[in-house]
Amino acid sequence: MAVKQTAGTVLFKQGDESNAFYIVQSGKVRIVQNTNPDGSGGRELAVLKDGDFFGEMGVIEDSPRSATAICLEDSQLLVVKRSDFDNLMALNPGIAMKIMVTITRRYKPDPGMAVAPQPQQPVQAKPQREGTVIAINSITGGAGVTTLVCNMGYELQKVTNGRVCLVDGSTQFGDLPVFLDVIPKLTLFQLAEETDVTIDMLNKGYIHKTNFAVDFVAAPMKPEQADVITTDLLRVLINSLRTEYDFVVVDTYSLMQEPVLTILELADQIIYLMTPDIPAMKNCRLWMELVKQLEFPEEKIKVVINKYDPRGSVDVKAIEEKLATKAFAVLPYDYNSVVDCINKGVLLNVAKPKDPLAERIAELARKIVKPGEATAAATSTGGDSIWGSFRKRFGLGG
Ligand SMILES: Nc1ncnc2c1ncn2[C@@H]1O[C@H](COP(=O)(O)OP(=O)(O)O)[C@@H](O)[C@H]1O
Ligand SMILES: [Mg+2]
Repeated sequence: MAVKQTAGTVLFKQGDESNAFYIVQSGKVRIVQNTNPDGSGGRELAVLKDGDFFGEMGVIEDSPRSATAICLEDSQLLVVKRSDFDNLMALNPGIAMKIMVTITRRYKPDPGMAVAPQPQQPVQAKPQREGTVIAINSITGGAGVTTLVCNMGYELQKVTNGRVCLVDGSTQFGDLPVFLDVIPKLTLFQLAEETDVTIDMLNKGYIHKTNFAVDFVAAPMKPEQADVITTDLLRVLINSLRTEYDFVVVDTYSLMQEPVLTILELADQIIYLMTPDIPAMKNCRLWMELVKQLEFPEEKIKVVINKYDPRGSVDVKAIEEKLATKAFAVLPYDYNSVVDCINKGVLLNVAKPKDPLAERIAELARKIVKPGEATAAATSTGGDSIWGSFRKRFGLGG
């Protein structure tokens, strides 16, 4: 229901019962906490304008208003009642996703956006080491995500002499054990049963050593085990690993679903891997539009072209023009070397460091750790309980 309100109208007060959520259509609304009884003073949390929404926290969590909302100007607002809110979310996964991402951001300790109260039970204290999380994703299956996760992970270790852990976020058909030639004992499937995930616990059987100076955490061994992996689990896992490792490199699968979005949201850097052909260009463009809608910071996204063969591929310049972005790296097509290594259970960059593909991957790793570029601020503290609430309320899976 759209309503017009004049400047100065108090829409709700801190402590009121939460019975609706609001979308600003025009005008401005001030969100303020701890005002005096007469409405003066207090701490301003945000000024919201057209397209912004507020009041969702109380509706989702069924808790009293955590702040007061006052119209700063004459404003037109869409008021969505609690009962309609459930339907809106259930029928519009796109809107639900956008709201989830916004709420996750609001839960971060950013004073400007701290509309939401602090989570009552932070799953994990602030990481001590704050290693860099790099997610590699592609919507085109077989683009070479796992090949890059393993070989770039190895190079990151070599270049920095730091500690690197790979995580198999390809939850149904994870290939890391095959590429790294290790049969895992414990995987994310068993981890989902644990009540309190800590780095100490991960060190007791979940983190596997390899012959290639990188460690890894394995996805479930069977596809039907994947649905026990919640976004909360991925969150706490990655945040725990970054306390001990300088780099956490995460393999992801080819769908923009909640687990993958969670990993991308947590990542300091995202490599989108594409092959140089028209369908992959189309997918990359759609992927970029989606992450833009979700307001992922542009600077954390890097497009890398893999399997480039000058004899048949779409020209790199043409790809860059069409996507309006520069390729961060171009990796050559090198089927014989790469498949030979996979079949022998060794990494290309270990067995054939002079191979042209291995050299380009090493270059890519060096480019990633360039001073000042490697460790963006952690994007991942807090937010755990809200994703959980969303999943339960709107049946969004995970
Ligand atoms: N640069 C490359 N040149 C040739 N083949 C490649 C290259 N990168 C990966 N491959 C091959 O492509 C296939 C898919 O690679 P993989 O890393 O498993 O992709 P994804 O994880 O995206 O499904 C594998 O057979 C791999 O050997
Ligand atoms: Mg893979």
